[in-house]
This record gives sequence, C-alpha cells and structure tokens, in this order.
Amino acid sequence: MSGWTPSEIFLRPTVARVQDHLDGGRDNYTVDRELTRELLAVAPWLPASVRINRAHGPRILDCFTQQLGIDQVIDLGCGLPHDDHLSLPDAVRHIVYVDSDPMVEAHARMSLAERTGTASLLADLADMPALLAAAPIERLDRGRPIGVLLHDVLPWIGADTARTVLTALHDWLPPGSVLSLTHATGDFARQGQLVRLSGVYEKAGIAFRPRTSEGIKSLLGSWTLLDGCGLVTTATWRLPSTTTVRPPGPHTLFDHSHAYAALATTGDQTT
Ligand SMILES: C[S@@+](CC[C@H](N)C(=O)[O-])C[C@H]1O[C@@H](n2cnc3c(N)ncnc32)[C@H](O)[C@@H]1O
Repeated sequence: MSGWTPSEIFLRPTVARVQDHLDGGRDNYTVDRELTRELLAVAPWLPASVRINRAHGPRILDCFTQQLGIDQVIDLGCGLPHDDHLSLPDAVRHIVYVDSDPMVEAHARMSLAERTGTASLLADLADMPALLAAAPIERLDRGRPIGVLLHDVLPWIGADTARTVLTALHDWLPPGSVLSLTHATGDFARQGQLVRLSGVYEKAGIAFRPRTSEGIKSLLGSWTLLDGCGLVTTATWRLPSTTTVRPPGPHTLFDHSHAYAALATTGDQTT
C-alpha cells in the first residue's frame, strides 16, 4: 500500500478509513462509507466490535506501564488516530506508531507525533528487516523491555507473512518484552457470517482473514502466552469469571467483540 499514488488513496476503500467510519470518525471518504454500508448489511455488530476492540488499547497500555514496568511501545498497524490514541498515558515514555497506509502515517505524524516521546513510521509488516532497521525503531532502548501492540492487524495479512512478522519480533525484542495481540474471529458469529463478511471485503479488493482460536495459536509459534488461560475475547480480557461488571456495550451474541486477545512473551524472562 505504501506505493499507492495520491489519486488511488481516494478511489479505493482502506481498512483504516472503514474502521474510522465504523467508529464514528471523520477521516473517511465516499468509497469507505459505501463499503461500510455493505459490511453492516452482513454484520450489524461491527461498530460495537470496533468500539470494544479499540477500548482494549488503553487497557493494554495501562497493563504495560503499571503492571509490567514497560514504558516503550511499538504500535504496529496503528490505524487512524482516535480519542484513545490522543489520551496516551504519561507513563508511556516512547511510542512509535507504524502503518503501511500513507494517510494513516501522515495523520499519526501530524496529530500524535507532536507529543514528546512519540514518532511515526510508514512501513510494511511484509518487510520486517526494513521496519526494524528504521530510525524511529532503532532509537528505542533495546537494553530494556519493549511492548508491542499488534491489534487487529494480522487478519489483513496472509498466514505466511503473519508468521514471519511474529518470528522477526520474537528474535529482535529484548528479554522482558511483551506482545499484545488482538485478532478477529468467526468463532462466535452465526454460521457463515464471517465468510460473507470476507466476501464483501474481497469484492472491494481487501483480503480479510478472521481466524479460529487454534489458527491464531498456531501463528504464535514460539511465543509464550501469559495469563495461563489461552485466548479470551477482547470483551472479557482479564475480567474475573465472577465479575458483575459488564464489558463495554451489551454483551450479546450480536454485540460482541468477535476478536480474541492475547498477551505473549518471548519466553526468555519472568514477566
Ligand atoms: C483494522 S486497523 C487496526 C487499527 C488499530 N491497531 C486498532 O486496533 O484500532 C488495521 C491497520 O493495519 C494496517 N495494516 C494492514 N496491513 C499492514 C501491513 N502489511 N503493514 C503495516 N500496517 C498494515 C492498516 O493500514 C490499518 O491501519
């Protein structure tokens, strides 16, 4: 996508802008809104899913900084800036926003990178050596743990590339580092609903690959899952099973995150 000409940016829908529209944002165009309408006809729960999944980002940043002592972060596939990005906790000292969509990177550069300790990077996860060698990433202190957000990005990437991304991160990150992953799934949807959703995206030239719990675990390879309970949905992540507090939004089959969340370590430390 980083090779798109300016006119193509407005003629084709993008994942980031569709997500922005689903979340009530203004950084989207007619092509994005038309695709969103078709997606909603298949899956009316999409706005709730986006809202629940986006609320997961700040919870993970709190977990990184307050529980795990991690204050430098890479946000891979950061998407268009939204309120949760803009209210970044002070305890996050360094954060690098990375995306392959030039419009996302431009917005990140203008609105997010103004805060001290933030940087943005236009880079494709399909080329991890180049991404990891880029100046904003090189400037992070690899003598200390780094937190990585990989939220709702792997469904837009083929399995081979996803495995390469996860292996490259596993090998590159310093001990004590933690990966936070969220990943769309059809495990809780009506039968065939996610297949139809993928079909709508495909017609628009976008490959969307929700995966099962087993499929996501197999991508994680040598990463070690924290929490000892495998994958949970983003809506229920770290909620005690006895909780009376409901996750954001009505928690029904049709108003569900439709995504798994996981925290994983490289396994070479006691986090
Ligand atoms: C659905 S959005 C998720 C945004 C954000 N992480 C969140 O959870 O709200 C997916 C983002 O991943 C980016 N993306 C997709 N494929 C990518 C790739 N190969 N390299 C870098 N970014 C990519 C898209 O441009 C988009 O901004």
